[in-house]
Amino acid sequence: MRRKFIAGNWKMNLGYRESEKLAKEIKSKLEDKYFTKTDVLICPSFISLGIVNKAIKDTEIKLGAQDLYFENDGAFTGEVSSDMIKSVGCEYVIIGHSERRKYQHESNKLINLKINKAIRSGLKPILCIGESLEEREDEIYESVIIEMLRDGLHEISTEDMSKIVIAYEPVWAIGTGLNATPKQASEIHGFIRKYISDKYDPEIAKEQIVLYGGSVNGKNAKDILSAKDVDGALIGGASLKPDEFCDIVRIAYSI
Ligand code: 13P
Repeated sequence: MRRKFIAGNWKMNLGYRESEKLAKEIKSKLEDKYFTKTDVLICPSFISLGIVNKAIKDTEIKLGAQDLYFENDGAFTGEVSSDMIKSVGCEYVIIGHSERRKYQHESNKLINLKINKAIRSGLKPILCIGESLEEREDEIYESVIIEMLRDGLHEISTEDMSKIVIAYEPVWAIGTGLNATPKQASEIHGFIRKYISDKYDPEIAKEQIVLYGGSVNGKNAKDILSAKDVDGALIGGASLKPDEFCDIVRIAYSI
């Protein structure tokens, strides 16, 4: 039985103390009962992971990083390793976000190295995939998604698949206020689940968590989270607003 999963990607927002404050606000607004049916994850910037980890200690709120590097350690200036993020309490790590694909030119090959590193380190990767507006208009989005799954998950075993979360984030919906309709999200989530069923195992596919991301907010969350095959949301802008983020958790709990 798949649980609902609500994740906040804080992106490059909030300083150290602001992150601590937001984490404490989220903690104070979520009663224990919500965690019986819903997983809640927050992903602050690297520098705030430690303080946020302290702020959410003794709660069921989970912590994730927004990226990692695939090497263990060494002369890789500016990079952050899996052991480093684990040492500050991370259980999850976002990998292959479209903003990293765009601004840091991350390829499916690099993303695959990071996915494998996360798995080997005992972290749970959230693999982000999704088509651009042009690819949707050209109706080639299914092949784009297959390529991202096939190459991003290269050398991932059936057993490892159960540790991976997939986030479908159409690029045209991120930060635009133009969310995918529940029907569009359902269609792609079903497509992703079928890919996993065919390539890996039908039982694994049934349990696979597939999140939707792209302009999710307090107003559209109910419709999106109720859509078939949508297990939760990866939220950007609205995850920085504690009332709205916690409202979305409550909506997920109530579905
Ligand atoms: P928005 O919710 O701001 O559209 O961002 C979505 C996203 O990119 C989450 O990773």
